Amino acid sequence: VGTLHSKRRQLLPKVKGGTEETTTGVLRLRAMEKDRALKYPIIAVNDAYTKYLFDNRYGTGQSTLDGILRATNILLAGKNFVVCGYGWCGKGIAMRAQGMGASVIVTEVNPLRALEATMNGFRVMPIAEAATIGDIFVTATGDTSIIRKEHMQRMKDGAILANSGHFNVEVNQKDLAEISSRKRNVRPNLDEYTIKNGRALYLLAEGRLVNLAAAEGHPSEVMDMSFANQALCVEYIARNDRMEPKVYEVPKEIDENIAKLKLGSMHIKIDKLTKEQKKYLSTWELGTT
Ligand SMILES: NC(=O)c1ccc[n+]([C@@H]2O[C@H](COP(=O)([O-])OP(=O)(O)OC[C@H]3O[C@@H](n4cnc5c(N)ncnc54)[C@H](O)[C@@H]3O)[C@@H](O)[C@H]2O)c1
Repeated sequence: VGTLHSKRRQLLPKVKGGTEETTTGVLRLRAMEKDRALKYPIIAVNDAYTKYLFDNRYGTGQSTLDGILRATNILLAGKNFVVCGYGWCGKGIAMRAQGMGASVIVTEVNPLRALEATMNGFRVMPIAEAATIGDIFVTATGDTSIIRKEHMQRMKDGAILANSGHFNVEVNQKDLAEISSRKRNVRPNLDEYTIKNGRALYLLAEGRLVNLAAAEGHPSEVMDMSFANQALCVEYIARNDRMEPKVYEVPKEIDENIAKLKLGSMHIKIDKLTKEQKKYLSTWELGTT
């Protein structure tokens, strides 16, 4: 999308529409729409229920732990596991780390999400505080420089840093290099940085998405829903001539249909509303007195 809107603008008139898979991608497209820079319609696949509730949460949750374990072979039980960002990815990572016996700490900037993490039983605190007690840190914010020099300098000897959010910018690597006297590759996807205070910090997968670099990404059983959204949204755009250069939600029917198809593929049946229930749910005259 970026290339089409910058270096290859001559191709733009031929583009009928597009779809966007990721949280960060959708964020950038909404910014383009706001600036009137977007030149064709895009459906925000990431924002479908059958995408983020499953791919971001269960996919990232599982594959992030898979990446950390493959890179380190560390025991998670009993460790202080810090998750930065309690969005859909962060929720999955926190849930799975807790399930493996880690004591999970969440850092957030959004009060609602912080409250949700608290009520889900996690400790919530600023990163400056978590930095001193964490054994393993995972960022999943889509933001930049979440873990910086001032945090790294206060970390325990042997702390592990990983990112499962955006590019390689969530753990500030310029800072890490600046405060280190030595860097050594210990095993694939595991670099040891000796900090000038004598402690060692371990960076996984060069700060890139640890689930993709050190493991195999999400299992196909969850990506199937994301890609069904992609395919059905492309079809929707192809059949629709009246879309404007905006970011659109995934049509509700597509989202619900994918959930139905997925349940079918898992041989799970659900109930149907009876006539009486349909009436009861759609009236204002029953159940009010
Ligand atoms: N690793 C993968 O395979 C994978 C899969 C899906 C999404 N992603 C990426 O992961 C990132 C997060 O996605 P999401 O769907 O969870 O997004 P989200 O918007 O649901 O959650 C991000 C959370 O991070 C919080 N946050 C922002 N800045 C912060 C800061 N400085 N400190 C602490 N918290 C902060 C936000 O308040 C928000 O709650 C995105 O970049 C997305 O593209 C990665």
